[in-house]
Amino acid sequence: MTQVGPDVTDTSETTAGRCYADLHEHIERLDAAGLLYRIDAPINKDTEMHPLVRWQFRGGIQEKDRRAFLFTNIVDSKGRRYDMPMIVGAFAASSDIYRVGMNVDSIEKIGPKWAHAMSHPVAANVVTSAPCQEIVLSGAELEGRGQGLESLPIPISTPGFDAAPYLTATCVITSDPETGTQNMGTYRAQLKSPTRLGMMMAVSTRPGGFEHWKKYQALGRRMPICLVVGCPPIVGFLGPQKLPIGVDEIEVAGGLAGGPINMVHATSVDLMVPAESELVIEGYVDPDYLEPEGPFGESHGYVALEEYSVVVEVTAITRRRNAILTSIISQVTPSESSVVKRLAYEPQYMTHLRDHLAIKGIKRVSMHEPLTNLRRIVILQFAPGTPRTEIWRALYGTLTLQAAIGKFVIAVDEDIDPESTDAVFWAMSYRCNPAEDTRIVDERDKGHGPRTTEKPGADSAMLVDATMKHPMPPLALPKREFMENAKALWERLDLPQLRPEAPWFGYSLGDWTDEWDKTAMDATRGDWMDKSESYRQRRRKGVDLNTPCRSVPPEDAK
Ligand SMILES: Cc1cc2nc3c(=O)[nH]c(=O)nc-3n(C[C@H](O)[C@H](O)[C@H](O)COP(=O)(O)O)c2cc1C
Repeated sequence: MTQVGPDVTDTSETTAGRCYADLHEHIERLDAAGLLYRIDAPINKDTEMHPLVRWQFRGGIQEKDRRAFLFTNIVDSKGRRYDMPMIVGAFAASSDIYRVGMNVDSIEKIGPKWAHAMSHPVAANVVTSAPCQEIVLSGAELEGRGQGLESLPIPISTPGFDAAPYLTATCVITSDPETGTQNMGTYRAQLKSPTRLGMMMAVSTRPGGFEHWKKYQALGRRMPICLVVGCPPIVGFLGPQKLPIGVDEIEVAGGLAGGPINMVHATSVDLMVPAESELVIEGYVDPDYLEPEGPFGESHGYVALEEYSVVVEVTAITRRRNAILTSIISQVTPSESSVVKRLAYEPQYMTHLRDHLAIKGIKRVSMHEPLTNLRRIVILQFAPGTPRTEIWRALYGTLTLQAAIGKFVIAVDEDIDPESTDAVFWAMSYRCNPAEDTRIVDERDKGHGPRTTEKPGADSAMLVDATMKHPMPPLALPKREFMENAKALWERLDLPQLRPEAPWFGYSLGDWTDEWDKTAMDATRGDWMDKSESYRQRRRKGVDLNTPCRSVPPEDAK
């Protein structure tokens, strides 16, 4: 790994008082934290770039070992060379990379930071000159082969299935024609010509840009649009977030940054864009026309087939002189796209259940990520003794925040690691009676999933209470002290390195008496024969085999 020279030429007014990192500074921080690979070898953006990064999600590499990949020597299948670098995974290849972007020193602080920002938005600061407009290309400068969008090193995400190179790490800005309130969302965009993009807005998730598009359509006016690529990470994190309609993402980004985000007027459309962005594609959408878009490998893990989508006609491309572009690796999860969502969705659901619905005993919300993409399986963890009514309120309450999150919602106890599928299955196996502890909820949104020509009907959800309904016998593993001692012994014997998997020691689950505990501990000291006489005294005739000793009154035991 070599040092990255970020070459920040940001001498505009926006530097003063800025309290958040731009992409160049973020890359420097990733490098300093050992979270960056710099690839100087020539890499084909059409066939090699995303498959290379994909291996760190499908190659048995642990999340903590994932890195962002900075490509400095990009070529394409036509033999063209690009002088602009591209970084993949810079926002959220792992929780740690996201943490660096959030500027906090531990992953645990990400959730509280989101909660604080949502309730403490900060109004943007308007500037008149900006790094993202150091170079402005418009009109004839954009047209012709190799110009405009074609001059950018945009990769093909899923070679062999995608119809074209796609912008994936966008922050798409539109505004409400009635109120002027801007929305920012991450939507993919297909390269179609040097000045034309196809852009997908998913009706099922009702993105803010779609709501604006409908209003422009009703007014019979074309919709101004900006696709921002390479935002300061603190701004980029807002792109995939679903905020209430009318809430300005840039103000929440200001809340995350702890100060205003600098915004500058776009050069050819009436919109404001983040001043320290790397590149901005400005243009218009004619809401009367749609064009085929796709196929494209989607974040639910299947290929989205060709559908009619909006068309962006580009009016200008503005950029930094030393722009670095960003691409998000999505498709089959885990992916950068799922990490970026998980780290904000989980705290949002926790806030919803604990603070808005005032659920007692809720400890944690965990969304299952590998292959299932967060939305389908949600696990709720509860403190011991949480009333059954609160568990059911939380199970139903999980269905209320977003239309398509929560297909299987499973409540577990505090000793169950919600991130371990094995542990969750274990809870379902022994702590749940399907006939009593599950409910089916009808008329749920089908949500984000593979689509064919079949009309999307309603889906349903299954709620599962897999918490203990009564005290249970202890977990049958040696007590903690014996396992810890044995671990030290294991290491002294120089046996292969251990990676403890919970549960790795036994503990009481309530149905355990002092008497049994004493007997077991006596046995560990070699005193197991001490009980011999008491067993003999409790001997009796006429009991059925397997009768629990506790059901035989002591006075009857002869
Ligand atoms: C990498 C990535 C790509 C995405 N692509 C799209 C897309 O093409 N279309 C879409 O409607 N939503 C897409 N999403 C989800 C939206 O960003 C998400 O629904 C967000 O809430 C939209 O913001 P909005 O509701 O403010 O418009 C994508 C999310 C990520 C992380």
